[in-house]
Amino acid sequence: MLFSLLRALALSASFLSSVYAITPGFPYGSQKVRGVNLGGWLVLEPWITPSLFDSTGNSAIIDEWTFGQLQDRNKALAALQNHWDTWITESDFAAIAAAGLNHVRLPIGYWAFEVGPGEPFIQGQLPYLSKAVTWARNHNLKLIVDLHGAPGSQNGFDNSGQKKSFPQWHSNQTNIDRTNAIIKRIASMFRDQTSTVPIIAPLNEPAGFDGQAVLDATRQYWFDSYGNIRFPFGTSQQSNTVVLIHDAFQPLSFWNGFMQPPNWEGVAMDTHIYQIFSVQENQMSQSQHIQAACNKASELSSFDLWTIVGEWTPAATDCAKYLNGRGVGSRFDGSFPGSTRVGSCTGQTGKASSFSSSYKTFLRQFWEAQTISYEKGAGWIQWTWKAEQADEWSYQAGLANGWIPQNPTSRQFPNICG
Ligand SMILES: *[C@@H]1O[C@H](CO)[C@@H](O)[C@H](O)[C@H]1NC(C)=O
Repeated sequence: MLFSLLRALALSASFLSSVYAITPGFPYGSQKVRGVNLGGWLVLEPWITPSLFDSTGNSAIIDEWTFGQLQDRNKALAALQNHWDTWITESDFAAIAAAGLNHVRLPIGYWAFEVGPGEPFIQGQLPYLSKAVTWARNHNLKLIVDLHGAPGSQNGFDNSGQKKSFPQWHSNQTNIDRTNAIIKRIASMFRDQTSTVPIIAPLNEPAGFDGQAVLDATRQYWFDSYGNIRFPFGTSQQSNTVVLIHDAFQPLSFWNGFMQPPNWEGVAMDTHIYQIFSVQENQMSQSQHIQAACNKASELSSFDLWTIVGEWTPAATDCAKYLNGRGVGSRFDGSFPGSTRVGSCTGQTGKASSFSSSYKTFLRQFWEAQTISYEKGAGWIQWTWKAEQADEWSYQAGLANGWIPQNPTSRQFPNICG
């Protein structure tokens, strides 16, 4: 009797220790993630810094690939160097911490680590990754390293480094092998610093909407990434690093049962919530946008992995200049091919000084609705900290102009979701 009790205790203790072999550098699941992305810094995005693209004088430069390919390389390098030195500095980390946030998510492209023959990407980002980690540590922020662009492109978006009509990452094993090698490197760089880099996102937004082949490659890549990130010591020793997989634009239910404990530990799900990349969503009223955000709560709270909304925005239109690509118009004002005009973009994007007080009130309501709803999951990371000409997207501008509170838990509209 006593023996069997002891045995039962020993068994449950070993079961518990296997469930909790990982001690993450942030208590995901018990404390909410509140954070902001450092978009447009180590991976260029035309809409975040249109001036970098406009000043090339070449309208064929539409992404970081063509930025390196279609202009003088020394000129491109100088522009990038200046951008890396100025777009994000330690004072941004100080301001992010002072705003009560606990995470930054830092997009970086594969080309920071390795450039293949014939690829025109310009390197030099890695010292800034190191600085960012130091700055995060200095200001007690957690930093998510987010591989935002993979060889061949995982989604064809300009923000993968290379805009193309169909992604080619998933269909080419060389591309996948190169990506795995980079994740191994990232995991080993940060395996002993998990109190500052508790979590690695091995691939941003693989284009699951492009079909089963992308989903199959992505699923296998999450398995590979788990091995690479959770076992970075070359032995059976596990790291404390959490793996942040992305839902590949599928409903969370698509991933039900995927990578569950006790066989899998330290896995979190990243989902991105935008209401602006279709004509229909641009036609929604302000109250419909708010309701749609509130409606996300049940899916987020019931999914079986820690679920972080790793990208979202208070913007309710696709009006920001170059948001749909350099030289491409917006659905909201009907200048996007095949769209139907909803209204003028004037007053919807640009500098906050051009925003009406009722629009700013809506931004506050939409911000609160989203953070209330997304905290029913494991938390949220807004896209993005800064944007040159699109204050509706900018956390920094929201703080300065009052639609984002100085303390992210204070509410003017606590009952916005009912
Ligand atoms: C696969 O990708 C590599 C670059 O990673 C490229 O050199 C090679 O040509 C590609 N193979 C095919 C069949 O497209």
